[in-house]
Amino acid sequence: MSIKICHGQTILSLRNVTKVFQGRKVIDDVSFDVKCGETFVIMGCSGSGKSTLLRHMTGAIRPDQGSILIKGKDIAQISQEELDDVRKSFGMSFQYSALLDSLTIQENVALPLREHTRLADEIIDIIIKMKLSLVGLRGFENYYPSEISGGMRKRAGLARAIALDPDIVFYDEPTSGLDPVVGGITDKLIKDLSVKLMITSVVVTHDLNSAFKIADRIAMVHQGKLVAIGTPEEIKHSISPYVQQFIHGSPTGPIDLFKEQKLSIEQ
Ligand SMILES: Nc1ncnc2c1ncn2[C@@H]1O[C@H](COP(=O)(O)OP(=O)(O)O)[C@@H](O)[C@H]1O
Ligand SMILES: [Mg+2]
Repeated sequence: MSIKICHGQTILSLRNVTKVFQGRKVIDDVSFDVKCGETFVIMGCSGSGKSTLLRHMTGAIRPDQGSILIKGKDIAQISQEELDDVRKSFGMSFQYSALLDSLTIQENVALPLREHTRLADEIIDIIIKMKLSLVGLRGFENYYPSEISGGMRKRAGLARAIALDPDIVFYDEPTSGLDPVVGGITDKLIKDLSVKLMITSVVVTHDLNSAFKIADRIAMVHQGKLVAIGTPEEIKHSISPYVQQFIHGSPTGPIDLFKEQKLSIEQ
């Protein structure tokens, strides 16, 4: 395993990122920095642009304007080949675990190792066992995804995401669809992995509880704009009416879902 030296320098920066889909600004002039080793949470209502922001950070989509600097390199400008190389230092854990049903858990976790390294089978086996024990799944190597629970599938997806010792792991709604206890276990796991492996975590979620439990810092987005950023304590006391409405779940305030739904139907 590589030893990472991580002193809280900036590892990822978004600068004035803007993206337009079908004439609508889905991401609107967003800038922020993520520090090495921190758990950075992007929270906001459904449809606010969280997943789209995440997809910019992983290089899945390119912005119309602005830059996305990963360790100083603008991934919005580099060639696909260079991007593929940068992406080897990413782990990605999506809303659905995205495991291949026809492969066992250990075969799923082995995929990135077989694709991106020339490690011998015995070494791959050792790495798989190590990653599965980090996510609490030792002993489930030969199970198929359909034979384990939803929470376990998410953890297996996570073992696969950390197979190559990534610098940054991106999570899209890691606790969605999980009951509160399994969600709590998943939160603890994300936090533990960040600390134990010195991984930078970028987590997109609309789950307020989860956000406050795991975040070192939280960025709130609304209609593609960054409306607040700070530590959980700062966010709790933010004067932003968007933040206050979101954290108190108030039906009235500047977030008007009825208006937004009507707008998106009209578009
Ligand atoms: N490829 C796309 N084409 C058109 N509109 C899109 C596309 N991807 C996302 N959107 C729109 O962008 C907005 C933000 O979506 P998304 O980032 O998925 O929100 P969130 O993850 O916060 O729920 C939504 O209105 C969505 O319909
Ligand atoms: Mg989303």
